[in-house]
Amino acid sequence: MNPVFADLPVSIFEVMSQLAREHEAVNLGQGFPDEAGPEDVRRKAAEAVVHGWNQYPSMLGIPELRQAIAVHYRHWQGLNLDPDREIVVTSGATEALAGAVMALIEPGDEVVLFQPLYDAYLPLVRRAGGIPRFVRLEPPHWRFDQAMLARAFSPKTKIVLFNNPLNPSGTVYGASDLALLARMCVEHDAIAVCDEVWEHVLFDGRRHMPLIGLPGMRERCVKIGSAGKIFSLTGWKVGFVVAAPQILRVLAKAHQFITFTTPPSLQAAVAYGLAKTDDYFDGMRQSFQRSRDRFADGLRALGFPVLDAQGTYFLNVDLSPLGLNEDDEAFCRRLVAEHKVAAIPVSAFYAADPIRSVVRFCFAKRDETLDMALDRLAGALARARR
Ligand SMILES: Cc1ncc(COP(=O)(O)O)c(C=O)c1O
Repeated sequence: MNPVFADLPVSIFEVMSQLAREHEAVNLGQGFPDEAGPEDVRRKAAEAVVHGWNQYPSMLGIPELRQAIAVHYRHWQGLNLDPDREIVVTSGATEALAGAVMALIEPGDEVVLFQPLYDAYLPLVRRAGGIPRFVRLEPPHWRFDQAMLARAFSPKTKIVLFNNPLNPSGTVYGASDLALLARMCVEHDAIAVCDEVWEHVLFDGRRHMPLIGLPGMRERCVKIGSAGKIFSLTGWKVGFVVAAPQILRVLAKAHQFITFTTPPSLQAAVAYGLAKTDDYFDGMRQSFQRSRDRFADGLRALGFPVLDAQGTYFLNVDLSPLGLNEDDEAFCRRLVAEHKVAAIPVSAFYAADPIRSVVRFCFAKRDETLDMALDRLAGALARARR
């Protein structure tokens, strides 16, 4: 069997979910909202299943959805995309990532990855024969600079895999960060694979800037989005990949032999959803921001040092200023067993040299759920200090 997958340990995400079930814990580990998602979009999908086309749709994605993606990104991000040559619909962002890695690298190529990193990246890169080169980001700001990039990029760099906004830290990278990364990509003739699944989940009035919109990047970026995140329907697994025609042509070939297509009913509903007015997207952000603030305020009142959460469904606490006698994983294991709240230790997002003091909570939950978690967390720090 292939060692990349055979040797992977059981992930901490599975471990924590299992522990959450065993201890009947409030599960703030996994990243999904407990609201049902917009009803009109769900009804559109149901209608499409009953009355619409349920056979293989176009390999690239149904034309209405590709058109809707182009219109949506023009409106929100100022991009001009050709729906016939620059967009492919995939079965979730995960498929888009797998396809991009398979299509763009050859064994021995170097891939720049930022730690903390989403768990799918490294196995995909390794399975494709890529050599990872890490940029290690640290709390509280999780930012990179020229020197950090210079250490990771080399003449062998083929792609850089960049997640913005960043899960798990909730960091949103803006104009100057992107300009720095763009310059490195141009200098090294590298392609940026941009995982932008959280592009709409931004707070405090922030707007997402796609790397593909920067000068020199239009021809060397793959932009990946996910309807699951845009509409709080994480189980739908409808993703999209956007790139210049000469790149997209190759990505489409990979897609052809990974999943070939994505359920047409869900595609039709996503096309409808992407055309919703700004009110929907602003309201979604406000609602998550309110949950973030409720949970952050509650954690602060309990003495947790809360880090800035600029986007995503996640809020992190950094235990290091508290001088606790346990690392993030031990803290999470104790939290779930003794306080019945599940969270994720951020060290799990590092392949090497992990940060061991940060814990991630998903705040995309109902008020009652967050309040129950806060009630249960009372006293968690006092015990850890003993
Ligand atoms: C950074 C990042 N990339 C990709 C995904 C997966 O997206 P999808 O469910 O559309 O495959 C997630 C899901 O949490 C994510 O956080």
